[in-house]
Amino acid sequence: MSAITLTDLNQCKARGEKIAVLTSYDASFTTRIEQAGAEVILVGDSLGMVVQGHESTLPVTMDDMVYHCRNVARARARAFLIADMPFMSYASPRQALDNAGRLMQEGFAHMVKLEGGRVQIETVRRLAEHAIPVCAHLGLTPQSVHQLGGFRVQGRGSAAARAILDDAVALQCAGAQMLVLECVPGGLGKAVSERLDIPVIGIGAGPDCDGQVLVVYDLLGLSIGPTPRFVRNFLAAGGSVQQALDDYVAAVKSGDFPSAEESYP
Ligand code: KIV
Repeated sequence: MSAITLTDLNQCKARGEKIAVLTSYDASFTTRIEQAGAEVILVGDSLGMVVQGHESTLPVTMDDMVYHCRNVARARARAFLIADMPFMSYASPRQALDNAGRLMQEGFAHMVKLEGGRVQIETVRRLAEHAIPVCAHLGLTPQSVHQLGGFRVQGRGSAAARAILDDAVALQCAGAQMLVLECVPGGLGKAVSERLDIPVIGIGAGPDCDGQVLVVYDLLGLSIGPTPRFVRNFLAAGGSVQQALDDYVAAVKSGDFPSAEESYP
């Protein structure tokens, strides 16, 4: 089977076919995730918490991201590969260009992901002008955890929901080619997905996004600390790691995941 491209992912959205995304940080998980048939692998800066044991994603460095991205890229065969830009690696368009270039040239990423709304417009535009595909990230943006006052649901109430919807449109206009929407009410996930032309990948954003992403350790029940409402443990009933990954991809594709109970009202 040929490698997945952004064109394939846009076609999935156009056909109403859900996109299955998982995080990975190493070669072994990447091989299993590929086998399960996920279309996209995200080398998330969540590695700062689930691999390195930090309390947030803030301590993750560019060198960490390049290292893990290379590990994943060696085992990647077909999936589209996205790498997170870590905290303070895109504080200006110039810095973002240098660091995104590293993720693509040294980490072999196909797209970079960065957090934030309107403040990132200039940066997104600059990256897009230099042929660097960008995935935006709105809602709960973990790199702003201290500013947000914790890991909590965003976009509640009409003004906050409107601000996220407007930011999403502005980022798409600036050249973003994908959006991750985290921890928002399901109705907002649906509204943003319907409004945008680019694929919207939800995590705790309800069942109506164009695709879903989970941190791979979470779906295997390996999470440290409290489990968010949107996480399903696909290994809880027993079976193998491969079966759990297969079941996750099948549940995303069929629309069985996330359920109403795994979404925010
Ligand atoms: O860092 C990460 O793994 C992420 C996902 C949770 C979307 O950004």
